[in-house]
Amino acid sequence: MWHGRFKQGMAEMVKDFTQSLDIDWRMAECDIQGSIAHVRMLGKTGLLKVDEAEKIELGLQKVLREIQNGTFKPSRDLEDVHMNIEARLTEIEPLGAKLHTARSRNDQVATTTRLYLRERLKSLTLDLRELLKVFVNNAEHHVNVIIPGYTHMQQAQPISMGHYWLAWYEAFKRDSSRLDFALDSLNECPLGAGALAGSTLPIDREMTSEILGFSSPTRNSLDSVAQRDYMTDYHYFASMLMIHVSRLCNDLINWNTQEFAFIVLPDEFCTGSSMMPQKKNPDVLELARGKTGQVIGNFIDLLFTLKGLPMTYNRDLQEDKRGLWASLDTVESVVRILTALLAKVDVNEKVALSGLEKGYSLATDVAEYLVSKGVPFRDAHMKVGKLVGWCIENNLSFEDLTLTQWQEHIPEVDEAMLKILSPRESVRRRNVFGGTGFDQVMERIQEVNL
Ligand code: ARG
Repeated sequence: MWHGRFKQGMAEMVKDFTQSLDIDWRMAECDIQGSIAHVRMLGKTGLLKVDEAEKIELGLQKVLREIQNGTFKPSRDLEDVHMNIEARLTEIEPLGAKLHTARSRNDQVATTTRLYLRERLKSLTLDLRELLKVFVNNAEHHVNVIIPGYTHMQQAQPISMGHYWLAWYEAFKRDSSRLDFALDSLNECPLGAGALAGSTLPIDREMTSEILGFSSPTRNSLDSVAQRDYMTDYHYFASMLMIHVSRLCNDLINWNTQEFAFIVLPDEFCTGSSMMPQKKNPDVLELARGKTGQVIGNFIDLLFTLKGLPMTYNRDLQEDKRGLWASLDTVESVVRILTALLAKVDVNEKVALSGLEKGYSLATDVAEYLVSKGVPFRDAHMKVGKLVGWCIENNLSFEDLTLTQWQEHIPEVDEAMLKILSPRESVRRRNVFGGTGFDQVMERIQEVNL
């Protein structure tokens, strides 16, 4: 349609190959929103008569209703969401032929996509806030619960489970800042950039930008239709978020094993096995971890699409949305289900603690105690290390040692040291800003403002 240049219509296979309707139809309402802003501007600037602009807007509202009640069946013959809507509008209201004045699909698609992405990111901001709240709630419930903290998957030092949850709060809070940044980077309006160079007609870009709720029009028409870094900013946010999700899920999957058994997952978030009746599998966590690859893959996909593209718009850019939608849908579902699951995770403190008592996770506490008695840290480290070696050879834990045995190996040890030798004291005494001390964790919880 609308083409005077061609003698023959497009081959069917080419229509199939070039259409983007299956991808961009979901932006239909945002496309109409953009067109309404555009036509109001055309009316205001005198490019259309006021009553023409009003009739076109009414026509657009009609098309919108047809979309909302599902009676509008778009056709792939019309390639994409933009042409389908314009064609339907013109059927309803012949003045629709004036809508595309001073506009190209290049600035149109850039505007529509930003509007759609903005909606999704705003909704994601709310979802993410719920996730952050769960970490803080869990932290509050579990401040006094002690679990082993790990480095290299080896027991390192006892920590408050509250501190563990707050560690995730910090990471996802940064993700939330990255999401704010992504929202910020789509906040300029490309409408009016035209195909690439702007327009000879006296349009008012400030006006469309304002109607659509952007901070300002974009400042360079070439840049407006050529670049997609407002999308890559989203993808970076999404990839980091999913990397955090995958690590969190992995911890919980480990801690849910019979070997660890630190945590209990809610039944309604687990699945059974078709063969083994005893199984209660953490599939939700595994799937959340497993979806990380696609989200990172979608990021890489777009980066590769963009690499080396000449200025300005190239049809390659039509491929920018497929992975974006997939990523948005995945991230949204993961954040929501994780929020629901995390709210119901129980900790089996007895089991977590019993693991700790057999190990030597208080070795650093002993070394630091010796430092407070004037022993240089390196000497203290050596002495405690030797004692641990001796205990392992003799199948003893720190708890089994009498004061005399302690002093045989480390003369500086005194009665008072034995009193600090418990996981609870160990956590309590790590009362440094940002440390796992119970008071510290409580203070961090109180600081949260969500
Ligand atoms: N369907 C296209 C896209 O999503 C529309 C943009 C303009 N097309 C064009 N041939 N200039 O990118």
